[in-house]
Amino acid sequence: MAKIPKEAYELSDAEKRDLTQLIQQGRPLPEKYRFILFEDKREVELVWNGKTRDVCTTVLPFQSLEHVDEPRKEAPEIQSDLFDTRGRQLKGWTNKLIWGDNKLILSSLKSGALRRQIEDAGGLKLIYIDPPFDVGADFSMDIEIGGETFHKEPNLLEQIAYRDTWGRGADSFIAMIYERLILMRDLLAEDGSIYVHVDSRLNSSVRLVMEEVFGKSNYRNEITWVRAASHNDATDQFGKVKDCIMYFARSEKAHLNIQYVPYSAEYIDAEWRKLPSGRYYKAENMLDPRGSMKFFDFHGTVARWRATPENMEALWNAPQTEVPDSHGRIKLGKDGNPIKRCRIMFLDEMLGVPLSDNWSDIAYLAGGSKEAAGYKTQKPEALLERIIKASSNEGDLVADFFVGSGTTAAVAEKLGRKWICTDLGKFAIHTTRKRMIQVQREAKDAGKSFRAFEVLNLGRYERQAYLNVGGRLSGKQKEQALAQKEREFRDLILRAYRAEPLEGEPFFHGKNAGRLVVIGPINLPVGRLFVEEVITECRKRGASRVDMLAFEFEMGLFPAVLDEARQKGIDLTPKQIPPEVFDKRAVEKGQVVFFDISFIEATPRYNKKDKFTLQIELTDFSVYYTQGAAEAAAASLKDGKSQVVCEQGQLIKVSKNKDGIVTRETLTKNWTDWVDYWAVDFDYMSRREIIKVAKDAGTEKQAADAPEGSAKPPEGLNPLSGSAKPPVPTESPTEFEERWTGSYIFENEWQSFRTRKNRDLEFISAPHTYTQAGRYTVAVKVIDIFGNDTMVLVPVNVG
Ligand SMILES: C[S@@+](CC[C@H](N)C(=O)[O-])C[C@H]1O[C@@H](n2cnc3c(N)ncnc32)[C@H](O)[C@@H]1O
Repeated sequence: MAKIPKEAYELSDAEKRDLTQLIQQGRPLPEKYRFILFEDKREVELVWNGKTRDVCTTVLPFQSLEHVDEPRKEAPEIQSDLFDTRGRQLKGWTNKLIWGDNKLILSSLKSGALRRQIEDAGGLKLIYIDPPFDVGADFSMDIEIGGETFHKEPNLLEQIAYRDTWGRGADSFIAMIYERLILMRDLLAEDGSIYVHVDSRLNSSVRLVMEEVFGKSNYRNEITWVRAASHNDATDQFGKVKDCIMYFARSEKAHLNIQYVPYSAEYIDAEWRKLPSGRYYKAENMLDPRGSMKFFDFHGTVARWRATPENMEALWNAPQTEVPDSHGRIKLGKDGNPIKRCRIMFLDEMLGVPLSDNWSDIAYLAGGSKEAAGYKTQKPEALLERIIKASSNEGDLVADFFVGSGTTAAVAEKLGRKWICTDLGKFAIHTTRKRMIQVQREAKDAGKSFRAFEVLNLGRYERQAYLNVGGRLSGKQKEQALAQKEREFRDLILRAYRAEPLEGEPFFHGKNAGRLVVIGPINLPVGRLFVEEVITECRKRGASRVDMLAFEFEMGLFPAVLDEARQKGIDLTPKQIPPEVFDKRAVEKGQVVFFDISFIEATPRYNKKDKFTLQIELTDFSVYYTQGAAEAAAASLKDGKSQVVCEQGQLIKVSKNKDGIVTRETLTKNWTDWVDYWAVDFDYMSRREIIKVAKDAGTEKQAADAPEGSAKPPEGLNPLSGSAKPPVPTESPTEFEERWTGSYIFENEWQSFRTRKNRDLEFISAPHTYTQAGRYTVAVKVIDIFGNDTMVLVPVNVG
């Protein structure tokens, strides 16, 4: 490239004047100044509309939802300090499955309290990501119910993620991935590596972006994965059968464990000889190709041998093999002396061919294959196995921030690596959770070791961040700003719920179809006290119908409080505020759906002979989804077709015959059909949820002060924030302190779930024996076929 003369970068006075004018008028500058005005003049750079190097710096604490650890049978005797008496992991790294948008997760991992844990685990050595190309494939699911398949469309949050990535074109995808790649680079260890899986639509842009983020010199390979032999898209183009995997190192310190593939049958036939035992051997030329070694006599043959006399002698004295006419590892001629091609090698002792960047030996995952989890974009385990083995060692930490069905987590666990995996999709998290429980069970059956994992999210803290009023405000200004934010937030919720705001009303917030509407606290679960307040306020006003909207409800609240309300003549309907409420566009388009609450009924079954033992039986589960409409489905159906829709808490199959006659069949005949997974924690209050937050952050301060044994902090008078001190999302804090959130971690001690192959479910848990007499709180969690979870608390008395 011709060098641009220095004077080309200097502006004339006229140019300076014109540029100043353009800036003052707020008009864009001509393109040519891009390379003149800026200090950093990269030779090649990908630019897109809105490119900025600003990255998210928000740091939020993680909320631990669940802890999953299949008890080990023999563990207590093996490593007693690592496991409790039931063989559950007590110490060391716990793998992490995090639900949420990876942008916030990455920035919170990068600068939050978990960073220290990551570094203590040796740093993040490998990242593999397979970001979404196509929302249809990534978020819609085929859910099986009875003998039918129900096609689930992406939920709103998933659609929003799609709109923000692909929805506005390739530039929005590149902008999305660019910011995340910068965060990933900052999280990766100096000797770490990253693999980014892309298809042929994006490989060129992603490579340029990665060169910019990781540096050109850290480019290692653009791997071609030939995933299929043929494709039916070969019309005006060649069939597209490959994906690309961009492999970059974090620095020159990154190490690659060379992988080997077996030799081809043709090569073996041509070069190797088969012995009667079935072993293959060949004799390798031992002459010095450059002719620089000295001649010497090796057992009767004088030549320039490529090895030293000592090394040749070692081959001569090696144990005798079955190869005819040989001595040790040396092949002899008819005269009994070594021939030139004299070194005997066996095929089964060779590593194979060092792997190239063209991978055509790993087939795409067939739908019926053993590992298929029913996730359309699922990648084969063999692919991840290769990547993980190549760029990490046993005990290393690997991550996948777009984990989908959990392939990276499953392979990492099987190969003895630690892992952090994240996904935005509720169903992806649920699929991964089930897959990882299977991996734990298989490892346990095979007597192999495995790690516990926890399911985390930013849930409550993400919502708190919304209410954050940062900046340099005085106490009074801050209070006003907070009140303003709360009002705006409440208005947004009311708009999404299509309710009319109530002016001058001190307690209730709105009215919808003749019902009062009250919004619960944003950062705390609605508890009994709040419900009692709602009832009292209703009675004061003589109101009898009220909708109570909240992000979270305290466990065990329903159905008891609703019955109490009913007895007092109040029809109280709790509704869940969906996370999509934060998306103003979705609210404006009226797309936000408030779900009704599901109820679980679980009954303890005490053992008549042993007072310390009980089982938990799942005795009822009800959901009241009102998604979609059977009528709309019927209207859009073609003759001879059928569709499954969800309406009024039932799944209904709507079919239209050849004559256009519509029939409806309810598929969810039994409540059990709704249950995909259920799990039991026999002593829920035994593990407090402790979070690490930046020192002096307001996050959950009240929660930390909650009285012993209470499942939630005392409720404040302000029903919206529930907290006198607003949460403070921090930017790169360095000092952290531990706080109890007021909640407990659900320890998954027993569970039963459906898989694609096995649709059966057990409805009574295995017996659990307590070691001490007393009252315990059992928690039962149910996840329905859409991946939504609900939990109930069941008090039990043993001994
Ligand atoms: C192509 S799939 C990954 C499939 C995966 N490799 C497997 O083997 O199953 C992409 C995943 O990225 C997730 N995703 C999309 N946007 C995301 C975001 N902003 N944060 C976290 N996950 C996201 C989707 O939910 C989807 O599961």
